[in-house]
Amino acid sequence: MKFLISGGTGLIGKSIVQLLRQNNHDINILSRTKRSSFDRVKYYKWNPKIQTIDYDSIDDVDVIINLAGENIFGLWTKSKKKKILDSRVKSLQLLKKLINHKPNNVKQIISASAIGIFPNSKEIIFDENSTQKGSSFLSNVVKEWEREIESLKAFKINVTTVRIGMVFSELGGIIKVLRLITKSRFLSFVGNGDQKISWIHLNDLTELFYKISQKNYHGLIHAVNNNPTTMLDLISILTNKYKLKFKVFIPELILKSFFRLLCLGDFYEDIANSSKNVVSKRINKVYPELKYTDLKDL
Ligand SMILES: NC(=O)c1ccc[n+]([C@@H]2O[C@H](COP(=O)([O-])OP(=O)(O)OC[C@H]3O[C@@H](n4cnc5c(N)ncnc54)[C@H](OP(=O)(O)O)[C@@H]3O)[C@@H](O)[C@H]2O)c1
Repeated sequence: MKFLISGGTGLIGKSIVQLLRQNNHDINILSRTKRSSFDRVKYYKWNPKIQTIDYDSIDDVDVIINLAGENIFGLWTKSKKKKILDSRVKSLQLLKKLINHKPNNVKQIISASAIGIFPNSKEIIFDENSTQKGSSFLSNVVKEWEREIESLKAFKINVTTVRIGMVFSELGGIIKVLRLITKSRFLSFVGNGDQKISWIHLNDLTELFYKISQKNYHGLIHAVNNNPTTMLDLISILTNKYKLKFKVFIPELILKSFFRLLCLGDFYEDIANSSKNVVSKRINKVYPELKYTDLKDL
């Protein structure tokens, strides 16, 4: 099979590319940067911001995987927030332009989305049938993102929306961010640390994307391991692993006011004090062999 992957140079993309190579598939990668192709991996330039793309990238492609998007970590300035939204919406718009432009063999498009679509809650458990949506900045981004994904159905190809939970990996994402913070040997967290974190290990997520393509699974699926943890438990594991010295509990009110003062109220709700208790009713049908279901497996 031949795959076209946008965002194939990122944390999740690189891991999927590696698995596809091991299984002898051909891979085209869309990147904003010119890169050298190697054996079965070919790079093609695109720029979602100005809607330019190399149309040859779709030749003989069976499955498109969309992972492109501005990284959400960093300072949420006005311009960063615009990039977070625009990069996701415009990437999908450019993929639509590509599919429209040239006759092609694409049978399925699998796109990343995020569990950030749900409101913060420590009690409510959200699954694929939950209709409740949040109203924070990130929830609104994901709503627009999923609207664009839905619109791909007009092409009469199978469309899969993968709402990804927090991805755990030594290679990047939240674990890397927390490790950087922990280098100061001070570890602070909000309130009593009972915020829910619904997570999936990068290796399991990679296998899930692959299984979705092989089984031609379409529709909505949550990419979480059905064993949400809490911030406190995650921090405890990291504390033991990286020999941290001090833990600082910051009262919610103080941190909230601090972030608001810096005009970063959205960041506080969506990242610093995020709490999502999300499960999947469908993951077992597609990928029952999840390997990482406990923090001890990390
Ligand atoms: N990691 C997580 O915990 C997590 C959780 C939920 C959802 N997701 C979603 O899954 C997708 C992949 O995540 P990831 O962790 O692999 O992300 P990542 O490491 O940040 O990689 C994203 C890729 O998107 C491209 N990109 C970055 N900024 C862009 C921009 N402004 N416009 C267009 N393309 C841009 C980059 O490719 P080039 O530089 O080659 O163009 C980059 O390699 C993202 O959409 C993310 O929101 C991730």
